[in-house]
Amino acid sequence: MSLLPAAKIGGRRVVLPSRAALTSSSRLFTTSTATPAPRVSPRTNVFPSKVLANPSAPRRALATHASPHTYAKLTGEDITAFASFLSSPSSSLLTTIQPSDSSCGVKPVGQDELDGYNADWMNKYKGRSQLVVKPKSTQEVADVVKYCYEKRIAVVPQGGNTGLVGGSVPVEDEVIISTALLNKVRSFDEVSGTLVCDAGCILESLDREIGAKGYMMPLDLGAKGSCHIGGNVATNAGGLRFLRYGSLHGNVLGLEVVLPNGEVLDGLSTLRKDNTGFDLKQLFIGSEGSIGLITGVSIVTPRRPSAQNVAVFAVDSFDAVQQVFGRVKSHCGEILSAFEFMDQDAFNLVVHHGIKNPFEAKHPFYVLIETSGSNKDHDDEKLSGLLEELMESSMITDGVMAQDESQAGSLWSLRESIAEAAGKKGAVYKYDLSMPIPKMNELVEHLRQRFNDAGVLGQDKQIKDVVGYGHIGDGNLHINIVAEAYAPEIEALIEPYVYEWTSGVQGSISAEHGLGYMKAEKIGYTKGQKSVEWMQRIKGLFDERGIFNPNKYLPSQPASK
Ligand code: FAD
Ligand code: MLT
Ligand code: ZN
Repeated sequence: MSLLPAAKIGGRRVVLPSRAALTSSSRLFTTSTATPAPRVSPRTNVFPSKVLANPSAPRRALATHASPHTYAKLTGEDITAFASFLSSPSSSLLTTIQPSDSSCGVKPVGQDELDGYNADWMNKYKGRSQLVVKPKSTQEVADVVKYCYEKRIAVVPQGGNTGLVGGSVPVEDEVIISTALLNKVRSFDEVSGTLVCDAGCILESLDREIGAKGYMMPLDLGAKGSCHIGGNVATNAGGLRFLRYGSLHGNVLGLEVVLPNGEVLDGLSTLRKDNTGFDLKQLFIGSEGSIGLITGVSIVTPRRPSAQNVAVFAVDSFDAVQQVFGRVKSHCGEILSAFEFMDQDAFNLVVHHGIKNPFEAKHPFYVLIETSGSNKDHDDEKLSGLLEELMESSMITDGVMAQDESQAGSLWSLRESIAEAAGKKGAVYKYDLSMPIPKMNELVEHLRQRFNDAGVLGQDKQIKDVVGYGHIGDGNLHINIVAEAYAPEIEALIEPYVYEWTSGVQGSISAEHGLGYMKAEKIGYTKGQKSVEWMQRIKGLFDERGIFNPNKYLPSQPASK
């Protein structure tokens, strides 16, 4: 698909194309005489590594001790036992270990057959599990987990394995329990929009299935073609439409969970309102497989909008990005469904990756907005007013607007492909931070400066790119540092600098990707000691033997049993 040339707007008056025009043309306007602002403002006060943006911010002790638990090593007897719990052991068990009973239906495979389960999406974290179990029912999960509990075998729950913090793969040789074969829709209520499904359903498949009935999933992410709804809930994934549809803490109505001792906690409620006791499901949302394996999800889904508009604007400075955000919110109000930003380096990365560039000139920043509503004329009128104002005030310097669904998809891919483009180019250090919006670009610039000072930034150097982008509407900055290879000296330049800086502006070291293995010991940069202690107690209460996702999520704690 190619975007058609701009329809020049005479006398700086912006007119939103009519609906008929919307099906055939897309480039809206251009005011390219303005000289683009320098992308990185020259600065003399380089931010040194140990100095925080807010030096008076409290510093917290970070635990560093290793897991106190010991785990059993798998034997052929264990494989035979696992096979006995499964309705089709030959398709549900993948192992390199010879079962003690050769008639159990399991034939060992080479270690390379497990590579895809042992390595994460970035190829940054790699375990060496010898067993992947793919149960087909909640009961099968419960039997497998109960056995692991009794034998003290460590496990890692795995969904689509698209997590970005090393949470979904073993650290050592944990048994991988995959939800890949738990993939049925259990019910869908067309009146309330309540969906109940197995945890292994793929997000995009669910969206397609309920889309046919006029509904949509309340979350959307670049990994939608692979990630599972159970993994989304386990990571409390945010994504591209969080701004409009909010957190899974609000949308999930109930969960079915297999606890670390094999008990099934049946909380698959479909009620919108239920004030009876502690809301236990909330503990599992964002728990990253640390206190149970989610097998079923009940979730409320919104109506699918009948009218959608997507536009990308070019902007001269990060200040202007924020101003545009303010104007867009006040103009579009209830129809705004996404407000994303990317800097020039992020944009260049996706364009070099092969995504079509709809702009002629280069610009320091780009924002993508999406509106979703039920009345196209109403939405077009709102957008028309918005564009007129943005142009009049020179807040934006150029822009394109999708004229149909396919063009909308192309504009979205400018934003959605950043993660993939970075991954294709090199080893990516990913940071996913919450912070006050005005601070976001500062950190990206500080990092570039820091790498320049160290002489490591450049296409022929150790760090090739530092790109900033994210869900600006949610105060969520993503920084991807694309390196030639993962190297301790590069990591030492980034960490703990990024965490200290973020803590110094009262931000969070994880806005949406979670803690996993990468940040288990770093939670203290965002949460106080007391909170971490209570989290550890909760973990110990559910998982007294520490068999669920060891060495992840929280600093390790002494065993209670
Ligand atoms: P996995 O990666 O398999 O697992 C993630 C964690 O959840 C692990 O700790 C695992 O042990 C645990 N887990 C998985 N399934 C279960 C279960 N059933 N029960 C208990 N624990 C479980 N995240 C965002 O928040 N927003 C984004 O916009 C976003 N975009 C992404 C784009 C790309 C291209 C990629 C690769 C990732 C993106 N992510 C994003 C990361 C995100 O965390 C995941 O994509 C998704 O939520 C993880 O789902 P998954 O099924 O792949 O889980
Ligand atoms: C995104 O917003 O694109 C995702 O969170 C993934 C990423 O940043 O890599
Ligand atoms: Zn994101």
